[in-house]
Amino acid sequence: SIDLGVQLNRLSLKNPILVASGTFGYAREMTSFIDFSRLGGIIPKTVTMQPRAGNPPPRTVETTAGLLNSIGLDNDGLETFIDKHLDYLCGLDTAIIANIAARNMDELAQMAERLNAYPQLAGVELNISCPNVSGGVDFGTNPEMAHDVVKKVRNACDLPIIAKLTPNVTSIASIAQAVAEAGTDAVSLVNTFQGTAINWRSRKPILGAVFGGLSGPAIKPLALRAVCQVARAVDVPIIGIGGISNIDDVMEFLVAGASAVQIGTASFYNPGLSAALVEQLEETLASENCSSVKEIIGSLQYPE
Ligand code: DOR
Repeated sequence: SIDLGVQLNRLSLKNPILVASGTFGYAREMTSFIDFSRLGGIIPKTVTMQPRAGNPPPRTVETTAGLLNSIGLDNDGLETFIDKHLDYLCGLDTAIIANIAARNMDELAQMAERLNAYPQLAGVELNISCPNVSGGVDFGTNPEMAHDVVKKVRNACDLPIIAKLTPNVTSIASIAQAVAEAGTDAVSLVNTFQGTAINWRSRKPILGAVFGGLSGPAIKPLALRAVCQVARAVDVPIIGIGGISNIDDVMEFLVAGASAVQIGTASFYNPGLSAALVEQLEETLASENCSSVKEIIGSLQYPE
């Protein structure tokens, strides 16, 4: 049989297919659609310290080039996540990686410290990249701040850490380098691309006062480019995310240097996709005469 296991510093996954934050809620609602135990892991929706209502509706719009969302981190807050969802999630036979966001670094570190009491968690993903709220996204656009926030979280929490990066920067490799130096176990890239949609007849932006984040197949080449840039410039395990919707997409991200991938928008259209991709990954590796997924990761060859 083929070894699908991957190790991203302290984070171990039984296979490299994860479900992206925001696409499975807190998993309960997806139980009848998918066998969670087949997945490498699940990343539940971002939680913040206090409950948040998110942005006013409408908060999603399907454009011809992809899905735009302006959810704005709608969630019930950290304590409700712990009370209502954590036991259920951690009882599933897959890695659970909590995803957190905050208005400032100390608050994020405090949240990570609280989650440190739950070693059943496989790790914590830091959402320093939401395009739809003010404040929290700043950590992810400035290398010094990105470094300092990861350092603070590491000092507060022993769980493996993933820093989720925004593509809305000039040099994503500089941000990845900064969080790598601060001791993140891995980086996940990319979060959504800031975009907008306009109803020109009414002269109004469809998502109201905020811009949205673009996801789906339209962003795949952009995300793949970001993974290539980080893989070449920075010594840090990468989790690829952005428009992955079939097994060829998965293989492209792995070859580009991602040790794992997250399935986001495509999960909305096909909730069982991530589990199917695990099977297809195994078949594809077999047809390539690979005994381990590690033989594929980072195997991309650039011309001399
Ligand atoms: O596109 C996104 N939407 N990225 C995030 O990080 C959060 C989410 C939201 O809640 O707006």
